[in-house]
Amino acid sequence: MQETLLFDQFTWLVFAAPFLGLLAAGLSKRQDPVIRGNRVLRHDGPARVSHWTHAVGTALLLVSGIILGTRFTPSFVTGNDATATWFNVHFVFALFFLFGTFYWLGNTIISRWRFGEHMPTKNAITYTLNHYGSLLGVRSCTYPKEAKYFESERMAFILAIVATVAVLVSGLFKVLAHALALPEGFMNAMTWVHDISAALMLLFFLAHVFFGAVLPVSWKTLKSMFTGYVPLEHAKHEHSAWIEELEEKGAVETATDMTGEAGEANAPLAAQGRKDGLEHV
Ligand code: HEM
Ligand code: HEM
Repeated sequence: MQETLLFDQFTWLVFAAPFLGLLAAGLSKRQDPVIRGNRVLRHDGPARVSHWTHAVGTALLLVSGIILGTRFTPSFVTGNDATATWFNVHFVFALFFLFGTFYWLGNTIISRWRFGEHMPTKNAITYTLNHYGSLLGVRSCTYPKEAKYFESERMAFILAIVATVAVLVSGLFKVLAHALALPEGFMNAMTWVHDISAALMLLFFLAHVFFGAVLPVSWKTLKSMFTGYVPLEHAKHEHSAWIEELEEKGAVETATDMTGEAGEANAPLAAQGRKDGLEHV
């Protein structure tokens, strides 16, 4: 029996997923980073959900895309049914990818200041050289005062954005071509864009997973991508500028604040922070 192509049958779902992502962002309540006792809230629920839906989507889109083959790599699948199965896998995870991306986009539109945290600053090169130089034991390098995201992560973010936008826009045109007759030359260009951006995404993905999940130094932030929290001591060492900023803004809750009683040591700071509406940090 000929396998059905989900891209043909449920084209509308591809266009509904982004709206669902934006709707979820509209309905979500964000929580700003805060020092809570000996932990720091680094990734709130919406950040974790958008990250993991996007990440799972990307991982399986890469797998299915590589199996299907690109303009510059061979296909690892033969026969109509097997090819249709892998296109269907591509379809399902494109929905995860679209939901996650638009959930993140909606969250970022609502709290625009978060976008700035991801963009590299003028210190990008010097901080990155000092960061990794000091980890490798180079004497002349000193560990820099990194903010919430390392300068190296911020540079990689540009690659993630470019690859995501290009693969997404070209992917939407490829889906549209299942419902409408689009010019052949244009679709040829879209396939090149899709395949080149898939290769860029693979590059980002491998580097990101290596620095964000494989290297032992990243395991505490990897855990926070599930639990939300990093230990305060770890954050003070790895992201000292971020912790200083949180303290200056009064985004600090002591153990007594958390039980709802009058605070002790940091209470005036915490109370001040709440009075000011805990400015975003
Ligand atoms: C990390 C993200 C993605 C990667 C790595 C990826 C990779 C690929 C690859 C390698 C192919 C086969 C070669 C080609 O036709 O260009 C392909 C096909 C395709 N992709 Fe993607 N893709 C991704 C995201 C998406 C998204 C988000 C969509 C939908 C919005 C999408 C829709 C399609 C479609 C419709 C096809 C062709 C189906 C057909 O020819 O019938 N892709 N993709
Ligand atoms: C299985 C694959 C992945 C793993 C294991 C992973 C792991 C992580 C970890 C541990 C963090 C926390 C880093 C920190 O707080 O400094 C993170 C953050 C991030 N990752 Fe991934 N990631 C994956 C896939 C992806 C993909 C595919 C993208 C985008 C194309 C991506 C984009 C980001 C971004 C933008 C952040 C910052 C999130 C935020 O806090 O707003 N990740 N990832």
